[in-house]
Amino acid sequence: MTAPPLVIWGGTGHARVIREALDAQSWNVVAVFDQKDIPSPFDDVPLFVGTDGFMHWMQTSATSQAIAACVAIGGTDGRSRLDTANFLHSQGLSLPTIVHPTGFVAATAIHGDGCHVLAQAAVCANVRLGRSVIINTAASVDHDCVIGDGVHVAPGAHVAGEVVIEECAFVGTGAVVLPRVHIGAGAIIGAGAVVTKDVPARVTVAGNPARPITVDN
Ligand SMILES: CC(C)(COP(=O)(O)OP(=O)(O)OC[C@H]1O[C@@H](n2cnc3c(N)ncnc32)[C@H](O)[C@@H]1OP(=O)(O)O)[C@@H](O)C(=O)NCCC(=O)NCCS
Repeated sequence: MTAPPLVIWGGTGHARVIREALDAQSWNVVAVFDQKDIPSPFDDVPLFVGTDGFMHWMQTSATSQAIAACVAIGGTDGRSRLDTANFLHSQGLSLPTIVHPTGFVAATAIHGDGCHVLAQAAVCANVRLGRSVIINTAASVDHDCVIGDGVHVAPGAHVAGEVVIEECAFVGTGAVVLPRVHIGAGAIIGAGAVVTKDVPARVTVAGNPARPITVDN
């Protein structure tokens, strides 16, 4: 049986990381798309530019199999990841959740479409992940957390039990979120922060204990 075809949207660092997990699950990566005209991150897969490139590829691709998609947009841009996932879904592509072979998802955890659980990451008992959530390398999300659509928990960050993280918030590399904290939609937790209190929507916090910081938007 031929490996199922899959396209990646986003041609930078996260694409290289997720490819490794895709290969381990025997997906056949057939195309990469990016908004910018950049070199393909892979020698064996062509890159096409933007929505026009995608539409042209869809019209000319010769496969009769159903095509899956993976959105490789990391960083703080959960909104773009979600919007792109919605677009690809509207074009008839499925968005499987990808779990690296060394990642752990508890049997009692549930997740939406298009999530990425990367190498050595752990999603523990009774966790609920929304759609297009990234639990990045060696990050952990402990019991009973509720993680909204488009959230990114960056490498090595640890989210303690019963935390709620709302849509498109970002938890930076190596940050720690203490039990039962509530993080609002679009909030940004700086790398290495220790979050001891609730964080309002769209606020950026950093430091130990984490406090709001002023950032240029
Ligand atoms: C919090 C963050 C998003 C702010 O980025 P930014 O908007 O570019 O902010 P700036 O770099 O201009 O920093 C603003 C101020 O906050 C401080 N600051 C920034 N990040 C900080 C952090 N993680 N911890 C403590 N202080 C921090 C800066 O020193 C600066 O202070 P100053 O005004 O006294 O000089 C960013 O620094 C960060 O931590 N990103 C996480 C990156 C990451 O984990 N990526 C993973 C990708 S997979």
